[in-house]
Amino acid sequence: QDEHFKKVISHAKEYGYIFPSSEIYDGLSAVYDYAQNGAELKKNIREYWWKAMVQMHENIVGIDAAIFMHPTTWKASGHVDAFNDPLIDNKDSKKRYRADVLVEDYAAKIEAKIDKEVAKAEKRFGETFDKEQFLATNGRVKDYQEKADTILKRLGRSLEKEDLADVKALIEELGIADPETGSKNWTDVKQFNLMFGTKLGASADSAMDLYLRPETAQGIFVNFLNVQKTGRMKIPFGIAQTGKAFRNEIVARQFIFRQREFEQMEMQFFVRPGEQKKWYDSWKENRMKWHLSLGMGEENYRFHDHEKLAHYADAATDIEFKFPFGFKELEGIHSRTDFDLSKHEEFSGKKLQYFDPELNESYVPYVVETSIGLDRMFLAVFSNSLQDEELENGTSRIVLKIPAVLAPYKAAVLPLVKKDGLPEIARKIVDDLKWDFMVKYDDKDAVGRRYRRQDAAGTPFCITVDHQTLEDHTVTMRHRDTMEQQRVAIEELRGIVLKETDM
Ligand code: GAP
Repeated sequence: QDEHFKKVISHAKEYGYIFPSSEIYDGLSAVYDYAQNGAELKKNIREYWWKAMVQMHENIVGIDAAIFMHPTTWKASGHVDAFNDPLIDNKDSKKRYRADVLVEDYAAKIEAKIDKEVAKAEKRFGETFDKEQFLATNGRVKDYQEKADTILKRLGRSLEKEDLADVKALIEELGIADPETGSKNWTDVKQFNLMFGTKLGASADSAMDLYLRPETAQGIFVNFLNVQKTGRMKIPFGIAQTGKAFRNEIVARQFIFRQREFEQMEMQFFVRPGEQKKWYDSWKENRMKWHLSLGMGEENYRFHDHEKLAHYADAATDIEFKFPFGFKELEGIHSRTDFDLSKHEEFSGKKLQYFDPELNESYVPYVVETSIGLDRMFLAVFSNSLQDEELENGTSRIVLKIPAVLAPYKAAVLPLVKKDGLPEIARKIVDDLKWDFMVKYDDKDAVGRRYRRQDAAGTPFCITVDHQTLEDHTVTMRHRDTMEQQRVAIEELRGIVLKETDM
């Protein structure tokens, strides 16, 4: 798994998807730049989401709010007081860690121990075991599992502000050591606010303290009435947006999974009070369908319903995806009650109510939100697509099986040789197709190597111009995933690629 993740990171760089930020200065920790192919993939994911959420729903509209917001926004939303991570310092090494991550990693180690035991037994008996069954019959391993579960449950209960002493007690009780130095000399656990502060205005006296938004959602809440009135929206309706968010994450790791600057795609759906459960269930189903529509394997997704709810929510679930480092949160779906709009009413002194003509009454709507990280979605697509394939003839190939609808380039056009008028025809095909989708011309190296290069870059189709083309105006179309080739007329190319890439 680790090996695969390393390959994902190096492939992303080698094929122009993701570069470390400001690399010539040795990079900036947990900040990344999307490269020429990465920017296309990211844009395509964003558009795929926007189409499904806005274009396909008459009652959802999109906005693009500013990153800077009035500072009172973050008091109202609770972020100034409660958007914290629990941190702990090691007194000897002076290194800082997220206390909950230290404990979670410890529980993960126990889980890994269990997997090892299962693997050992499988090897010994020469058969595969169902993990649940194995646990049920193997006392020692079951004890490990219960220990891991108990640790995580206790941690979950203790992460509230007032219980942080419990987290420290848990760390000491388990004997968790500084992962780098082995020291067990810990400070108390303290809350650390995740918002980045900055200043607006030039002069020192008049400068205003601002925050970079830690979520895009608040730009939607403060515009709720503006959109409802100008768009003549009737409840239930939704407002969607995509955009950058910033969090001063202490444990920024796992490549683009957890970054300090990232992009969210959020939709807030405003409903009648009392109807939130129905809409929460419906958006859970809708969002899972969206994920499955990409064909990346049903077994790679699962819901994780929250038992412990944030103060503003009456129901919450994560859609988890099987990343190279295990199942982790990809998207959150939250039933946020009327918390946000009511708080903004309270702090702004402005009414944020909707007059419901059917009920003939005004109320503060309830909100069901779907919130997905674009970068996380990128990592899900990219890591799932990268495959090292053994071929029938005994060779292997590296192929990036990105769903065609998301692929940066939809096709590459390759003249078989650089003579006999073939390059000219290939150029002409590129010029005709580029109006409709991203298409690339490539005439370097033998055609087999060019196929491999396009496989590794994720291009779904290679179109090869050869001598037969001169006679009958047909070309070879090679499919990335199956490597099958078909002969098609040049005039048919556009239609086939558009159809096969769902555009
Ligand atoms: N408005 C709700 C909200 O922001 P969240 O669970 O904090 O909820 C939503 O974030 C999504 O944003 C997550 O499911 C994840 O995909 C993404 N996300 C959160 N923090 C991130 C980070 N540091 N780096 C990359 N993506 C992140």
